[in-house]
Amino acid sequence: MNTPSSASPAAGCLRIPPALEAAVAERIARYPQPRGAALMVLHALQDHFGFLSNEAIEWAAARLGVQPMQVLELATFYPMFRQEPPGRFHFKICRTLSCALAGSLALHARLCDRLGLDPASHGPQTTADGRFTVELVECLASCHTAPVLFCNQTFCEKATPEQVDRMIEECRSAPPEADGS
Ligand code: FES
Repeated sequence: MNTPSSASPAAGCLRIPPALEAAVAERIARYPQPRGAALMVLHALQDHFGFLSNEAIEWAAARLGVQPMQVLELATFYPMFRQEPPGRFHFKICRTLSCALAGSLALHARLCDRLGLDPASHGPQTTADGRFTVELVECLASCHTAPVLFCNQTFCEKATPEQVDRMIEECRSAPPEADGS
């Protein structure tokens, strides 16, 4: 990702709908200093846009009264934030101990193999057609049903290789979205 400049002309290109602006203002108002709401604001922006663009980081910095670099440091430090748009179908596989012992790394490798991605890469990878993103993540708080994974908002417990194959096929057969993806 390019480093955002301290000025924020690009942030002016960002279209923030009134509901998002209101949500951000409400979060900032909870803290004595606006900068205290930085993580909350980044979550709100990522929830809306799907990722944190340079423009979003610059906009957040302006709202929080800090330099864009300070926001960028947060956005790149915490693994839950993304600087690239995810695919339409986003698989998150838990790699923490219980799930790793129960086979989650093999599930990740299988997904990558089926989708033409690199099984050795643990970070987010997106297929060339932009349809699938696969990544390993930390504990998803369901260790007793390991191994677990998300596909978008669908949570899969005690996942098996066969379930993973079925999920891929369901995604592939999903009707295209309005943008053709
Ligand atoms: S270790 Fe996977 S959900 Fe906790």
